[in-house]
Amino acid sequence: MIAIVARSENGVIGKDGGLPWRCKGDLQFFKRTTMDQKIVVGRTTFDGLPPLKGRDIFVLTRNPSARCEGATAVSNPADVPADAIVCGGAAIYDLMIPKCDQLLVTTVKKVVEGDTFFNPQWLEGFEPAETLEETDEYSIVSYKRSDG
Ligand SMILES: NC(=O)c1ccc[n+]([C@@H]2O[C@H](COP(=O)([O-])OP(=O)(O)OC[C@H]3O[C@@H](n4cnc5c(N)ncnc54)[C@H](OP(=O)(O)O)[C@@H]3O)[C@@H](O)[C@H]2O)c1
Repeated sequence: MIAIVARSENGVIGKDGGLPWRCKGDLQFFKRTTMDQKIVVGRTTFDGLPPLKGRDIFVLTRNPSARCEGATAVSNPADVPADAIVCGGAAIYDLMIPKCDQLLVTTVKKVVEGDTFFNPQWLEGFEPAETLEETDEYSIVSYKRSDG
């Protein structure tokens, strides 16, 4: 399983249900990486997303009667397909990163305010494998599991 996450320099990943920056290069990377794939997001993240065409979206929610337009609501994490890309937010990274063998981590080179944070524990057991993109605005690093 793969997870994809973007953080600011000070570890913010979200604010008020959305992203507190605009980073075109990272959005393009997200689109390229997830296009035509299955993705899994938490219900909070889903509520803040614009419609994502071309992705088969699974939404984790504890509400068994939740209706998520254009997506499949799932209550049991075990029912998320093993090939879904983990797209957050924090609660879903906590839950699913332990099942991942690759993390794609964007660092947006800004200090911003937020209410949802990158948990350094997500990187435990991983090591940087490759820098995929590096600009003045952001970097994208692929981490691979190093603890087997
Ligand atoms: N920077 C990034 O890369 C990135 C990526 C994604 C999201 N974000 C940001 O992260 C923030 C949201 O993160 P968040 O942690 O607050 O919320 P979240 O992870 O998006 O969603 C949390 C919701 O997921 C459901 N859930 C959690 N654990 C579950 C489980 N074990 N089984 C079934 N359902 C479960 C619950 O939905 P119910 O309440 O419906 O039961 C819970 O309220 C937003 O600001 C978003 O923009 C950032």
